[in-house]
Amino acid sequence: MFETLPDAKPDGIIALMQAFADDPRMGKIDLGVGVYRDEAGRTLVMQAVKDAERHIVATQESKSYLSLAGDHRFLDAMGRLLLGGAVPEARLAAVGTPGGTAAVRQICALVQLVRPEATIWVSAETWPNHVPLISAVGLAHRPYRYLDAASGTLDRAGMMDDLAQVAAGDIVLLHGCCHNPTGVELASQDWAEIAALLDARGAVPFVDMAYQGFGEGLDADAGGLRHLAARLPEVLVAASCSKNFGLYRERVGLAMAVIPEEHRARVAGTLAGLNRRVFAFPPDHGGRVVSTILSDQKLRALWQAELDEMRERVHANRRTLAEALRAEAGTDRFDFIVTQAGMFSLLPLTPGQITALRAEHGIYMLGDGRVNMAGLNAQSVPVVAQAMAQVIDEG
Ligand SMILES: Cc1ncc(COP(=O)(O)O)c(C=O)c1O
Repeated sequence: MFETLPDAKPDGIIALMQAFADDPRMGKIDLGVGVYRDEAGRTLVMQAVKDAERHIVATQESKSYLSLAGDHRFLDAMGRLLLGGAVPEARLAAVGTPGGTAAVRQICALVQLVRPEATIWVSAETWPNHVPLISAVGLAHRPYRYLDAASGTLDRAGMMDDLAQVAAGDIVLLHGCCHNPTGVELASQDWAEIAALLDARGAVPFVDMAYQGFGEGLDADAGGLRHLAARLPEVLVAASCSKNFGLYRERVGLAMAVIPEEHRARVAGTLAGLNRRVFAFPPDHGGRVVSTILSDQKLRALWQAELDEMRERVHANRRTLAEALRAEAGTDRFDFIVTQAGMFSLLPLTPGQITALRAEHGIYMLGDGRVNMAGLNAQSVPVVAQAMAQVIDEG
């Protein structure tokens, strides 16, 4: 049966992780994998998560099946965290999913069911899994310009020109905050213009929120989504709790539609049916951790303080790297690193320079120049800046 099966394409990030693990050099530096790391390079379980887990273990009486949508307390708490009351809860239909990845997939499946002819517009630089997830359900996609590579800022005119071609019924995928991989944020004015344009064209935004709290803060990072939800009749949302709760391997996410109230029951039922056909019930433990934290004042304050610390550490790494690059490379062309947000930036390096950083200096980043700013620390910033200056000098 498998004689003609071609070899599976290796996943770039997994291959990079393996190459890093196999590298025997002591001073190697991993800026590739997209997980938060503390100053010592660890991805620790958050204290608020440990406390919530202790409480759950002590009080949980059953692990029997829940509903196909998952735990309503998790969905309600996440609805509030994401939308902050911008729309009445009666406009929200949501289901739990195994992580943000499955949330994206289930939203794509919903679109495919309702509007198979729709094109999903995707920023030209995006999370490498977006397009495969869209294609997997048989939907078409088209890129819109996003990054102005020369300045490391938003190609505002290019983006709006491309989005002006969106057809009625199309879907526009937007990163809620902390754009992966560019780190380039939309300003509130951009969200307002996008909302007006999509409204005029009869298109629907689809917000992927995977890093809420890593940009400016929990509420500020959801400002764009909240504006869209308040302004437009329909918004699709995929959210992940992997990064902001550090629950990566627990697989916690949700797929949500913001819709007119009269469609709520049908959309919620359809999303539940889509879950049934793939994994039936979403995983429960991680979602329960999230709802326990969000519903308890003390745990919530602890979690927010831990999240604030993570965000500030990433910002500090951005500042020190930009300063070190100014000093080492004698140029301000990397100053954009400070104005960007979230864990990632796309560094304007050639494939040859990226290979040289890996081969000669043991510095690992993705092949497109994406760097995880949380992978840096006080020791590695000057090493990375010096190595970058050297490979840039060598051409
Ligand atoms: C933009 C974006 N969306 C969704 C996800 C999905 O994350 P997970 O499935 O681990 O929750 C990620 C993770 O890297 C991401 O960067």
